[in-house]
Amino acid sequence: MFWDNSMPLAPRPPEKRETDKTMSKKVTLNYEGQSHEFDVRVGSEGETGFDISQLRSRTGLVTLDSGYGNTGSCESAITYIDGEKGVLRYRGIPIEQFAQSPNFIEVAWLLIFGKLPTTEEYAEFVVDLRRHANLDEGMKHHFEGFPRHAHPMAILSAMINALSCFYPEVMDVDSPESFRNASARLISKVRTIAAYAFRHSQGQPYNYPDPRLTYVPNFMHMMFSQPYVQYECDDTVRTALNLLLILHADHEQNCSTSTVRMVGSSQANLFASCSAGVSALWGPLHGGANVAVLQMLENIHKGNLTPEEYVKLAKDKESGVRLMGFGHRVYKNFDPRANILSEQAGKLFAAMDRKDPLLDVARKLEQIALEDPYFVERNLYPNVDFYSGIILRALGIPTDMFTVMFAIGRMPGWIAHWWEQNQTPGSRISRPRQIYTGNQLSNYVPMDQR
Ligand code: CMC
Repeated sequence: MFWDNSMPLAPRPPEKRETDKTMSKKVTLNYEGQSHEFDVRVGSEGETGFDISQLRSRTGLVTLDSGYGNTGSCESAITYIDGEKGVLRYRGIPIEQFAQSPNFIEVAWLLIFGKLPTTEEYAEFVVDLRRHANLDEGMKHHFEGFPRHAHPMAILSAMINALSCFYPEVMDVDSPESFRNASARLISKVRTIAAYAFRHSQGQPYNYPDPRLTYVPNFMHMMFSQPYVQYECDDTVRTALNLLLILHADHEQNCSTSTVRMVGSSQANLFASCSAGVSALWGPLHGGANVAVLQMLENIHKGNLTPEEYVKLAKDKESGVRLMGFGHRVYKNFDPRANILSEQAGKLFAAMDRKDPLLDVARKLEQIALEDPYFVERNLYPNVDFYSGIILRALGIPTDMFTVMFAIGRMPGWIAHWWEQNQTPGSRISRPRQIYTGNQLSNYVPMDQR
């Protein structure tokens, strides 16, 4: 059977076990002599939030939270993070448990459909991914229109959006079947688009996906095979890349995922929403940090600055320089993904019997920063981007493509969140308020009188 409607999909509605039980808890707001009571929501891991969804209608007030650091934008059952303890779990499973024999597609299924796949479910999904790997021939002409030096993130975002033109049925994803089809299409085609963007930048012919290959080796084939020599993806590369994609697969309400949810909240289609996610990811404070880290390490390696000088510069607010790959909005202890990647980097170079001087620079920077009161006091630790670039470089991925790799990895998370929101009863369009600070009432002055 292609799809069984009774199969559990992404939470519909999201599991609200603890939340419902604790609805009796209240918080009181006292303002200008008036008291207002609001519900308190407690998540399944004890995270507590004040439900202020009625605040404005009952009091005329809004909250102000620049950067949303204190705002819970939704209830979600996909990923759990405890930033103080360095915990990250996908659907309840600690991230460390995926490191033994990493399989990105299994994790993608887990995130999107809410549970680990059975053997049959997994096999069917693999068939779906294979079926959807190719791009419509018409899409190839779009690549021709981009200049050679175009940034692959720009191409990726544009081409994911363009998928909506070729598969208009995505406009109407409302059943589990159509959602599953759209998800498989996106997860499979994103790597084909990524590889084609790279080939275009090199002026090399596109490699069609090879149906005999699994997800990661197929991507590497599309990237690196030549008409006269087939790329062979060995186990070390396959394992490292699977792990890297898994570690990027979801991270609850980060900037790009919140963007996907924000766009999706207007009922924009899955492809349009994920295309916006790619744009949000591109920035150097988010997914673009993996490129910035590598540039920083290269700069130090070239002798432009010593690691000590760079750290000094990063502490100087006037310099505008940050220690890239350090710090996180949520992790105030360590980022478990960085720990796994740090270890993985060592293993990878040992397995490949290679050395990379940038790894030594990274280790030195980390050591200096972790002993420096500036970083200690602010709880700044290496994040996922600190070691990912070094690993990608070892795998032969060019620096321009680093953030694209992050996007391929994050796709299951974006899809899972889009669907979770889409299926949550009572979901509303995301539309924050503001505190207006501009001119008070003023009059229009005709141009000849100004
Ligand atoms: N280097 C130097 N100082 C830093 C750094 C850094 N990397 N990160 C934060 N700080 C300082 C910051 O200047 C501030 O100092 P003060 O309290 O004296 O004003 C304090 O630490 C708190 O920082 P913040 O900017 O308020 O923290 P945030 O939660 O708004 O930003 C961040 C988080 C990740 C954007 C930031 O730490 C940063 O810019 N890191 C470097 C870029 C980076 O590695 N980004 C990847 C993030 S993880 C993967 C992803 O999300 O894509």
